Amino acid sequence: MVEIRTYGPWAVVTGASSGIGRAFAEQLAASGLHLVLAARSTDRLETLGAGLARAHGIECRVVTVDLGREGTAEEIVQATADIDVGLLISNAGTGMPGRFLDQDLADMHRRLTVNATAHLDLAHAFGRRFADRGRGGMVLVSALGADHGLPNMAHESASKAYVHSLGGALHYELASVGVQVMVLMPGNVDTPIMDEFGIDRASMPIRPLPAHVAVREALAAFLKGRAKHIPDRKMRAIVRLLPHKVSMRANGRMLGRAAQNLAERRAA
Ligand SMILES: NC(=O)c1ccc[n+]([C@@H]2O[C@H](COP(=O)([O-])OP(=O)(O)OC[C@H]3O[C@@H](n4cnc5c(N)ncnc54)[C@H](OP(=O)(O)O)[C@@H]3O)[C@@H](O)[C@H]2O)c1
Repeated sequence: MVEIRTYGPWAVVTGASSGIGRAFAEQLAASGLHLVLAARSTDRLETLGAGLARAHGIECRVVTVDLGREGTAEEIVQATADIDVGLLISNAGTGMPGRFLDQDLADMHRRLTVNATAHLDLAHAFGRRFADRGRGGMVLVSALGADHGLPNMAHESASKAYVHSLGGALHYELASVGVQVMVLMPGNVDTPIMDEFGIDRASMPIRPLPAHVAVREALAAFLKGRAKHIPDRKMRAIVRLLPHKVSMRANGRMLGRAAQNLAERRAA
């Protein structure tokens, strides 16, 4: 069986300071891959990197970068120019529940840069590098809501739809040059983003999946050569069975409540 270690020796993980990205870093390090950890929180990345290097005898490099600013993905490309990267986990992302018309446009542009443009820049740069070395892998982290849009998170789901579509196409297009691409579509993974969004876990249709379980599933799906993966068997069943209108209304209500929770928290 192919092991994720064969995609090394180095892997780049964006958004590695928390949640799904952190779980990727932990599992890749345990497999023996050297890591480049990228996000804005230098302290968290350095603490994580030092712990993983000690525990697994790997090398770690930290890149502090704000991917919400145009062109900054290039800083990751430059910082890895001297090492042999074979795997990209393009995971950093963000969001803000609330009514579309109430949101600040400049803020939405910044979130579009993190959620879409940074994935484009990284997929292009590392795609070329992987094609040149004749082998490589990419996991592009989108979102379940990318499939159909989410009321009260219209902008984020639209930005994630770009990644969904890009990765879905690249899965086929880059296979001929030895580059394997998978889109990950989380919808209910238990990470700090849920608290940041003001989401009440009790209001979710099923209990959120721990991040390490979602990532274990994702890596298994990647190694099987899947084009996309939705973490959690129960979530996959809901997606298959729930009528579109019911799903849109339920998600819109849940995210509307989340926006209200956030507003109350800010006012307190
Ligand atoms: N959890 C879910 O159920 C769910 C659902 C749908 C989509 N997703 C997607 O899954 C991915 C991981 O999210 P998560 O749930 O693990 O959330 P999380 O715990 O909040 O992690 C988000 C990561 O992205 C990084 N990030 C955010 N803005 C950034 C910026 N401007 N520049 C660089 N890094 C930035 C954060 O690091 P810093 O703050 O240190 O920069 C953090 O490491 C995201 O793309 C998210 O949209 C998750």
